[in-house]
Amino acid sequence: MVEDSLSPASITDNLETRFIGQRVIYYPSLTSTNEVAKQAAQQGAADGTAVIADEQVAGKGRLKRVWLSPKGSISLSIILYPSLVYLPSLIMVAALAVTHSIEEVTGLKSQLKWPNDVLVDGRKVSGILIENNVQGSIVNYAIIGIGVNVNLRLSDFPEILPTATSLSDELGREVSCLELIRRLLVEIEKLYLALPAGGSIYREWRDNLVTLGRRVHIKSGKTDYEGIAESVASDGSLRLRHPDGSLTKIVAGDVTLCD
Ligand code: BTN
Repeated sequence: MVEDSLSPASITDNLETRFIGQRVIYYPSLTSTNEVAKQAAQQGAADGTAVIADEQVAGKGRLKRVWLSPKGSISLSIILYPSLVYLPSLIMVAALAVTHSIEEVTGLKSQLKWPNDVLVDGRKVSGILIENNVQGSIVNYAIIGIGVNVNLRLSDFPEILPTATSLSDELGREVSCLELIRRLLVEIEKLYLALPAGGSIYREWRDNLVTLGRRVHIKSGKTDYEGIAESVASDGSLRLRHPDGSLTKIVAGDVTLCD
């Protein structure tokens, strides 16, 4: 077992970032790093503060789902204070940071499934939950929450086994959570600071989506759609082409790839 200490000092020691991860709030066990990050943001935590835990006992997924995060997984939330215009890009920053970091640390290639899953070999290895607090045009804070299945034996978790994987299951060896978190912090900062320069992050995100061109089933709110995932816009929304030729813009939903 790779025994990492995720203490603030081990995260920040010579960390090559300007502000992301320079402050760390760490707990061995907590409810949800996103929830703790929200409280810290409300109390004025520094921009880029990272909340990290060895395990979450009430990890939150998208669409009010439970996110399993036992020891051996990464549970990381970053507090940001971006301007409104950058909010739609945070998912792209986070998803690309995850794929870049996984490849740099393990050599594994990963793909993105709209809107925010990271897959290795077609199975989910990481999920991202962005939570924003906005009043009018003022962003009080944004939280990027990232969960990665690092050293989990998926056979111990039959409820997610059919659709999920872990880095250790893919590689046949364990991976350092500390190294992966430190890489994630560097990648998030690089991509986040590049946002004012414009479209390249959107284009890289779009080009890494396995969803495009595929026949999909999408559950969005109470509505089910089926069609071809035709394109994504720079605001992150998906254009779905229906069998009758009509087009729907979908902002959020749960996608199943049909073929
Ligand atoms: C999903 O795929 O449904 C999103 C999963 C997001 C999980 C991460 S783990 C760190 C952060 N804290 C949470 O409670 N959720 C996110």
